[in-house]
Amino acid sequence: GKVAVLFGGRSAERAVSLKSGQAVLTALVNLGVDAHPLDPGPDILERLRAGGFARAFIVLHGRGGEDGQIQGALETLGLPYTGSSVLGSALGMDKYRCKLAWQGAGLPTADFVLLRAEGDLDAAAALGFPLMVKPVREGSSIGMAKVTDPVALAEAWRAAAEYDSLVIAERWIDGAEYTCAILGREALPMIRLETPRAFYDYEAKYSAETTRYLCPCGLDPDVEQAFQRLAMDAFEAVGASGWGRVDLMVDAAGQPYLLEINTVPGMTDHSLVPMAARARAMSFEDLVWGILMTSFA
Ligand code: DAL
Ligand code: MG
Repeated sequence: GKVAVLFGGRSAERAVSLKSGQAVLTALVNLGVDAHPLDPGPDILERLRAGGFARAFIVLHGRGGEDGQIQGALETLGLPYTGSSVLGSALGMDKYRCKLAWQGAGLPTADFVLLRAEGDLDAAAALGFPLMVKPVREGSSIGMAKVTDPVALAEAWRAAAEYDSLVIAERWIDGAEYTCAILGREALPMIRLETPRAFYDYEAKYSAETTRYLCPCGLDPDVEQAFQRLAMDAFEAVGASGWGRVDLMVDAAGQPYLLEINTVPGMTDHSLVPMAARARAMSFEDLVWGILMTSFA
């Protein structure tokens, strides 16, 4: 049957989604799938209903598409879709509640403070600098800053609040950043990210030529396996399923700290899940097919 490929959308990550979606659409067509692009707006329910689609492939990043909204609409229409359910999507998009769920499950994540009022800045500073300031429901590092003093902290809070009324300040983990892609019930090989920039920001993610991606990631195989298990546990703790990506930091002592999960991770030519799949000898088409299959689960 016809497959609706949902990409674009209205979030701050629209530009990334357009690239991810175009790549997925091309792969689906190459695979012989009757795939049709849809850029959701206020009329998306009517277009989904009128289109005669058998299922939906979601390549929307950020709010509206990765947070349970479109998933709920598809549930209501009775259309199967790729990736996480309403609950897993909603929790995965919300860095604050996601960390609460991980803490509740006994999974390691960096200490943080929710910034709601001026007084919270002192509590955040008490965690010790540097701190990462993050809008709670954003992606691709949009609105994020690494700060090293109280003045910069207050500024970063105001800047992040432009993107989301909810902002967290999280203790900076001095160490290396890794990511673990998940497809079905399996963790793919981990990737280590290195950037000369202050952190792995939007620039480092999508345009910088200086970002280094190491896959194999250089960890001992048994350590990598333990972190892959941690990533699967983190994914399942918030009810995520199908496919996604879990980001983590590992400090100098080898202690991992979960950063966040992405229930619709990037699928651009700079993106990490396709890179991890290649390390498994899976082509981009193989990966897209595997993700499409998650809508049958
Ligand atoms: N939020 C971006 C798309 C990612 O995690 O890949
Ligand atoms: Mg993200």
